[in-house]
Amino acid sequence: MAFESGESMQLLGKSPAICRLREQIHKVAAMDVVVLVQGESGTGKELVARAIHDQSRRSRKAFVAINCGAIPESLTESILFGYEGGAFSGASSAGQVGLLEKASGGTLFLDEAGEMPPSLQAKMLRTLQNHKIRRVGGSQVCQLDMRIIAASNRNLREEVRLGRFREDLFYRLDVIPLFVPPLRERPEDIRLLADFFLNAHSAAQGIRYEISSGLLRKFESYAWPGNVRELKNFVEYGVCFSENGRLTRKLLEPRFALSGVLDKVPNGVRRRKSAFDVACMESLLQRYGSDMEGKKAVAHWMGISLATLYRYLKRERG
Ligand SMILES: Nc1ncnc2c1ncn2[C@@H]1O[C@H](COP(=O)(O)OP(=O)(O)OP(=O)(O)O)[C@@H](O)[C@H]1O
Ligand SMILES: [Mg+2]
Repeated sequence: MAFESGESMQLLGKSPAICRLREQIHKVAAMDVVVLVQGESGTGKELVARAIHDQSRRSRKAFVAINCGAIPESLTESILFGYEGGAFSGASSAGQVGLLEKASGGTLFLDEAGEMPPSLQAKMLRTLQNHKIRRVGGSQVCQLDMRIIAASNRNLREEVRLGRFREDLFYRLDVIPLFVPPLRERPEDIRLLADFFLNAHSAAQGIRYEISSGLLRKFESYAWPGNVRELKNFVEYGVCFSENGRLTRKLLEPRFALSGVLDKVPNGVRRRKSAFDVACMESLLQRYGSDMEGKKAVAHWMGISLATLYRYLKRERG
């Protein structure tokens, strides 16, 4: 798999939530279950999906990512299922293997699952139900053996409630829900990530880059609406414009201004739980039950203490 320079193949972070997530990845990788990774944009969902694949028994087979919102409707069938030679006008005479067949033996990553148009939702549901496909224009049925990982930065349960996502498909995907927390809720990871991105540039260019303590403080108090991807972009901006290898607050001021976000995030913003966490909590409580054991399990999954869970519940439910 090709990665850009500075692209981590590891899920870096020392926050309790990321440590917990790494543990969960390790556990689910050992099984063939369907995993649904949710979290805001840029939090690392694809990295989580790849980590699960890499740690699974399927690691030597393909990891096939499908951007569910980007397949042209008229080509969906041939792209997913493939086609036999001459199946339709314009089809190559040799036919083509579809993405699902390519993922056979490996992992199928349904990225941006919340963006699936209704017709694709119906096709995916059928595929997940019977694990079989037939190429367009073909008669042979191919048995599929693959691990499914879906990711969404929309809250899928909410999409179901709004009638935009099929409930039956949701329950096929929401088997093991994993949540990647926003960067603003794990400020202890910021330095580590910034250093990682910076070191990658240092190594690539033979220049020692460093971040001033003032800039680091600013990084740690910023809300990062674009999460880790945005942090990576900011570091790149700094590397691009720095003249002496030093990334300072002043150097990055124009970059912060471009993002149009306040200089300092009020405490309330950092402390307030995102809509995602609340949705995650509700969904997990339904799964594990609301008794003491259930709540303990939910707190464990979310990487928060039981006391914190109670605080959210009190605030959400009054
Ligand atoms: N914990 C992490 N450690 C190292 N790199 C990370 C981490 N989280 C994210 N990244 C990097 O940040 C970038 C964004 O991550 P990724 O593409 O996985 O996000 P995403 O959640 O799939 O975003 P989107 O919802 O926009 O598709 C990538 O370059 C990824 O390598
Ligand atoms: Mg992604």
